[in-house]
Amino acid sequence: MDRSFEWNAANGPAFDGAVPTLATPADKRFFGLAVNARFGLAASLGLNARWMSLYAGLGFDILTYKTVRRRAKLALPPPNWLFLEECADPFDPTAELRVRPGIPADPVQAAAVGSIGMPSSDPDFWHADIPACRAALRTGQVLIVSVVATADDGTDEDAFVAEFEELAAMVRQAGAQLVEANLSCPNVQRREGEVYTDSRLAGRIAAAVKRGAGPLPVLLKIGALATDEAMTALLHATDGHADGVVMINAPSRLVVDGTGTPAFGPGRERAGLMGGAVHDVALDCVRRAVAIVQRDGLGQQIVAVGGASTPQRVRAFLDAGACAALAASPAAWNPFLAQQVKHADPTI
Ligand SMILES: Cc1cc2nc3c(=O)[nH]c(=O)nc-3n(C[C@H](O)[C@H](O)[C@H](O)COP(=O)(O)O)c2cc1C
Repeated sequence: MDRSFEWNAANGPAFDGAVPTLATPADKRFFGLAVNARFGLAASLGLNARWMSLYAGLGFDILTYKTVRRRAKLALPPPNWLFLEECADPFDPTAELRVRPGIPADPVQAAAVGSIGMPSSDPDFWHADIPACRAALRTGQVLIVSVVATADDGTDEDAFVAEFEELAAMVRQAGAQLVEANLSCPNVQRREGEVYTDSRLAGRIAAAVKRGAGPLPVLLKIGALATDEAMTALLHATDGHADGVVMINAPSRLVVDGTGTPAFGPGRERAGLMGGAVHDVALDCVRRAVAIVQRDGLGQQIVAVGGASTPQRVRAFLDAGACAALAASPAAWNPFLAQQVKHADPTI
């Protein structure tokens, strides 16, 4: 928590517990691939093959490699992850949220905020590291690789879209089994982080990623869309290109410390709300997206992310029509979550 992202990538993970041995049959499907359970790790802590190998061993069966770029980018300096006093209304985009010192007694269910800035290792590194992740997977586990194009001030839209296609082809060649395009990071410049709110551009990117991914299933990672109109526009614009939509990324919120100043420092007024507090927002999005897909006869499946911190919450996502649920921050604080989910409900 008090070291840089790069330090954590180079030195982590620190885990000295016993790796569980619970075995389940690989009798479920995730976009046509056999999986032990429809639960796994969202783009977050799969920083490299060492991290991925631990989470695979801990029984997270759908594993997402944290978003990679076409060029290396450093993370924002620490702090990158803080906890909140409370989050009275996780749906309110105007709320000013106050951080609390330290780590709460129950960090799995607590409301947290993240400000990492979507870093990436160098393509030479991740191109060699993705095959090592594949090699670490057990029977009934699958690897998603998340990608994002980099938008500088001078990047025009055609180049931005083309870079998504190139990245999809690169991760396919490296061994990804599914390609996820991240259209939604809350802590990067507007163009990269809010693509999901621009359905026309999201549609172009989905088509480009599909071309680059070839036969692999294509997923789009989006943030919360508050209205059915916006959700309908996004789903229609990407239908036929994206096989699935992963929702939600951490909603962007104003975050202050006890004195009312930006808790992550100047220029980092906003951070992404994650963990227990976002579950209701994610569940609402999943329910509405599933209803629109069914109503309009669209082809996408919905993958649920956001506060999937208990077996009951994972079950609630599946009952809402999601084809799988993934955890990010809860997986950091409860490494046995996948085992508990499978033990509590073998049908997941
Ligand atoms: C340490 C960390 C790193 C993350 N990095 C990414 C990322 O690279 N790409 C992405 O799409 N989402 C990223 N996320 C967002 C998560 O995938 C997820 O959408 C969000 O945290 C909400 O889920 P949660 O409540 O399970 O944490 C990250 C989250 C965490 C905690």
